[in-house]
Formats: sequence, structure tokens, C-alpha cells
Amino acid sequence: MAKNYKVGIVGLGWVAGAHIETFKHVAGAEVVAVCSRRKLHERDLEKRFGIPIRAYSDYSKMLKDKSIDVIDICTPHPLHPEQAIAAARAGKHLVIEKPIAIDWDSAVAMRSAIHKAGVKACVCFEVRFSRQAMAVRAAIDKGLLGTVHYGEIDYYHGIGPWYGQYEWNIKSAFGGSSLLTAGCHALDLLLHYMPGEVAEVTSYQSKSESAYFQRYEYNTSSVTILRYADGRIGKVASVIDCLQPYYFHQHLVGSLGSVLDDKFTSYAWNGMAKDRWSHLGVPVVDSGDVSDHPYQPQFQAFIDSLRLGQTMPHTDFDSAFESHRAVFAADRSAAEGRPVKLTELATA
Ligand SMILES: NC(=O)c1ccc[n+]([C@@H]2O[C@H](COP(=O)([O-])OP(=O)(O)OC[C@H]3O[C@@H](n4cnc5c(N)ncnc54)[C@H](O)[C@@H]3O)[C@@H](O)[C@H]2O)c1
Repeated sequence: MAKNYKVGIVGLGWVAGAHIETFKHVAGAEVVAVCSRRKLHERDLEKRFGIPIRAYSDYSKMLKDKSIDVIDICTPHPLHPEQAIAAARAGKHLVIEKPIAIDWDSAVAMRSAIHKAGVKACVCFEVRFSRQAMAVRAAIDKGLLGTVHYGEIDYYHGIGPWYGQYEWNIKSAFGGSSLLTAGCHALDLLLHYMPGEVAEVTSYQSKSESAYFQRYEYNTSSVTILRYADGRIGKVASVIDCLQPYYFHQHLVGSLGSVLDDKFTSYAWNGMAKDRWSHLGVPVVDSGDVSDHPYQPQFQAFIDSLRLGQTMPHTDFDSAFESHRAVFAADRSAAEGRPVKLTELATA
């Protein structure tokens, strides 16, 4: 019988609840433990989630639990590196919520520990597994857009006091930046649609005058231009201080056609009208609610890859690490008021 991967979650907040519910629908995996700073009662956990869950308050004890194969990190961002490194050293595979870290050196240390331990990791850039992203990526892979030379992927999501993580996310030492805390999803998706070497980024930041966002210790809007080594260009806006519905803008322009959100045109498809859009017919990514996120196909792909002893597709650690390299370069560009080459962020 195929192995059933046992998952232990650290940090029992908003996103952890969505992970627990999702793992109920992932074949070959089950959540068996959680670790929280609060004293948890196993009876209450079973009542809340409908499955037996062991409760730990000491993370090192959970790591010593030999029955646990995968540690799923759902704590605030700055805790991700030390928790991931300890888990990798304990031989556990990893699910890591984004961002992987809020400083470059910690991200590099995580990468070394994961490579050294030889464990596999899935980083929650689950938007790559959305039906919209799957359809757009399939159109690119089938050559319907030709060579995509320009792309803009923009994240608009007002993360105000109505949002659970607001109280810690507003602090620089926890949220990091607009890109790190949320807009990294957009930059990651751009790199998914337009893979290749990013040579340089230039980024600018600003913030809203609205009272809702004044407690943020960092700028809550940013725009980043990416220049690829082969001359292609991209743009990513990260706007977490907007007062509008959630909007994940996706616009790709290629030598044979374009994609705009859930619409496309293609010269590769004879007879298709070029003066109007055709529709992809998929739901768009239009919600910041974690219960709407495409975690299920992502976690299933991770568990299937573990079983095969392979690196997972799309959201493996090394791919996510490269997205973070561009994010850290962008934030450095905004802070220092100059273009930043990605080679300035060394890994050795
Ligand atoms: N991929 C996505 O789309 C997505 C969506 C939402 C959140 N997230 C990420 O998930 C992470 C958590 O976000 P959230 O919204 O659930 O926040 P949250 O505040 O609801 O939950 C964080 C939990 O971690 C707990 N915690 C803090 N320090 C701890 C420690 N040392 N040990 C154990 N538990 C500890 C807190 O008490 C809290 O329960 C963040 O990194 C966030 O970026 C990702």
C-alpha cells in the first residue's frame, strides 16, 4: 500500500485552518499534529477539525516525533527560516507558507539547510496551480502567444484592519514589504509565465493616505520593472493599500498573441478574430480568502512527488527561491534608489 504522509503544522492561525481542511482532500497525506504557542486541547482540536490531531507547544518535541514526515510552516514570516532549517535538519520534508523569509541571508541559509538535508519542500505560491494560471501557462506552452516579450502581473488586495494578520503584518520586522508580504505571488506568477534569467530590477514604492493603512511601518504600494538578460521586460505592481475588490491583473504580450486576465487572442489560431478577445472559460483568481486558494492541487502534486522521490512541479523550493531573489532585489532597489542586478544577491 502507498505510504500515507503524516503532516505536522506549526502556527495554528488563519492559513493553517485552510491547510488542515485542504489536506483532508489530498490522497496519501493526513494532518496528525499541530504546534502552537497556546495550550491546545486535543479534544477541542478534534471537535473543530473533525480529525484526531496531536497538540504540541514545544516545536523541538514535534520535530522529534518520528511518525511525522512533513512539517507545514504557517507562522508569521520571520519565523519561517529558523523553523524550516530545524525541520530540514530533523529530516522532515517541508511545506512553507510564503514569503520564505523577510531577509536575504535567512533565505540563503534555508536553501543550504534544505539542500544539505536532501529533503523536499513546497512553497505556497499556489496561484501557479489556479485554473487560470494553468490555462494561461498551457496557452504559452502550446505556442499560442509566440514569444512573450512583455508581461505585467499586478496584485491589488487591500490588507487593512479587517484582515486577520494585520496586527503583526503592519510591522516592518514581520511583514517586511508590500512585495514580501503579498505581492510576491504576482512576481512569482510573472516568472512562471516568463521563465529565464532576470538581469536587473528597478522598483519604486509609495503609500495611500487612507487612515486604514497609516499604521503600516513600510510603504504599502510598489511597482517593479524587471529586465531579462535576453531583453524581455516585465512589470509587477503590489498594492496592499487599495480600496477596491481583490484583483490579480494578468497581461502577457507575445509575438503571436496576448492574454488579458481570462481573455486571449492568437495569430497562431487561423480564423480567430484579432479585434476582439476570446475567453479562456476559467475562473479568475479573484479572492484573498484562503478558503478559495488552490491549495488542493498544489499539495496533491507535492505528495505525489514525494512518493516518486521527485521534486514537485511549479512550486518547489528552488523556483520559489528565485522569485524571492527578485523580490529582495526589488526592495533593495526601492530602498537605495537605483537599479539592482540580481547577481548582487549572492548565494555563497
Ligand atoms: N499563500 C497564501 O496565499 C497565504 C495566505 C494567507 C497567509 N499566508 C501566509 O501564512 C502565514 C501565516 O499567516 P496567517 O494569515 O495564518 O496569520 P495568523 O496570524 O492568522 O496565524 C499565525 C499563527 O502563528 C502563531 N504563532 C506565532 N508565533 C508562533 C510560534 N513561535 N510557534 C507557533 N505558532 C506561532 C500565531 O499565534 C498565529 O496563530 C504568513 O506567512 C502568511 O504570509 C499565505
